[in-house]
Amino acid sequence: MKKLVVPSLLSADFAHLEEEIRKMESEGVERLHLDVMDGHFVPNLTFGPIIIDAVNRLTDAHLEVHLMMENPGQYIQQFVEAGADTLMIQQETCPHLNKDLNAIREAGARPGVVLNPSTPAATLQHVMDDIEQILVMTVNPGFGGQSFIPAMLPKIQKIREKIRGTRIRLEVDGGIDISTIGRAGKAGADLFVVGSSIFNEPDPGKAYRELSDKLRIVA
Ligand code: DX5
Ligand code: ZN
Repeated sequence: MKKLVVPSLLSADFAHLEEEIRKMESEGVERLHLDVMDGHFVPNLTFGPIIIDAVNRLTDAHLEVHLMMENPGQYIQQFVEAGADTLMIQQETCPHLNKDLNAIREAGARPGVVLNPSTPAATLQHVMDDIEQILVMTVNPGFGGQSFIPAMLPKIQKIREKIRGTRIRLEVDGGIDISTIGRAGKAGADLFVVGSSIFNEPDPGKAYRELSDKLRIVA
């Protein structure tokens, strides 16, 4: 599967959102990552469907929405209507996980599950037929700019073995930069969310390009 850098708009300049998106489009970006935080599941607050709808009107890129919120099942329809192409929910917030994943599919988006660093891969055993994407958090969710947790590498390898031969994509999120992207890629990830190491750089387009080039060496 083609390895892709997925810029996270969390670190973008929201006063110039269109400009930030155009910088990524001019580098040929295929997917953008949007982090929804509720101040309960994670301590931070970000945005909801209104901003996703605005981004959706600005770009044709595939929008993957990462819900770091309690009770995500209640909002599935709204996020899909706003433009989420892939909708990812945290395993820890969903006591009825396969029900919520099926609701995402029925609403018209691709379902994905996210695992916090402390959540084992085995918790996904019963939903493997219901998902198209697994996101392994390589930091504790809530903030951009944290350090990659190397102890997640064996978990990425284990999940890669499990999904071999399926069409499930394996993504990593948190602390991905020019020094960690190669290790995560070798372990088996094929999608790499990057926030601060793109948008906090003086030239975000160049940063995106260098990270993508690094992936070509690993692939
Ligand atoms: C963190 C978010 C990430 C965040 C990653 O909780 O889920 O998507 O944007 O940011 P960096 O790349 O700065 O670690
Ligand atoms: Zn995220």
